[in-house]
Amino acid sequence: MVKKNACVFISGRGSNLKSLINKSRDYNFPINIKLIICNNESAYGIKHAKKNSIPFLIVDSNNKIFERKIIKEIKRFKISLICLAGYMKIISKNFIKSFGKLIINIHPSLLPKYKGLNTYSRVLKNSEIMTGCTVHIVNEKLDDGKIIAQKGFYISSKDDAKDLERKTQKLEYKTYAEAIINLYRYD
Ligand code: GRF
Repeated sequence: MVKKNACVFISGRGSNLKSLINKSRDYNFPINIKLIICNNESAYGIKHAKKNSIPFLIVDSNNKIFERKIIKEIKRFKISLICLAGYMKIISKNFIKSFGKLIINIHPSLLPKYKGLNTYSRVLKNSEIMTGCTVHIVNEKLDDGKIIAQKGFYISSKDDAKDLERKTQKLEYKTYAEAIINLYRYD
């Protein structure tokens, strides 16, 4: 199997990044992570790039031309898949067009419900029975685009927002990996 070159975008903790790096060590997993983009210089997740000697680029997303800088690096590393993993910035229409290949994102809710931030507290406030996570193709709208994988679990009456976060994140690692495997299943 010829693995695809992937790039992961992060802004914070990077636990999904860590999980993807671990999965990509499997010769059967369809991607290698060749580049990491981060728009927060104090993000904990950069540690995973350093520890695994994966090239990373820290960008200032307040700078007008930051996406152009990213595109340049992405071309240099021949990236064919971008995985957003806790990247707290909306990808512009222009960027999607310039890249021209697949961009996917993981979101901590059962989309199309609960787009945006603070999903866990909103889920609890609405007394939902279930929650979970979704992997979707990125378009220029927030947490929109075709859903390619989704997993859920039942909420217990004892669960608070922290519990939901812990349970959802555990499920995210599995769901993200499965979504990527499915993308290249017939390659
Ligand atoms: C995840 O819950 C993901 O769904 C959301 O941001 C969080 C990132 O967590 N988009 P981490 O940085 O991967 O630990």
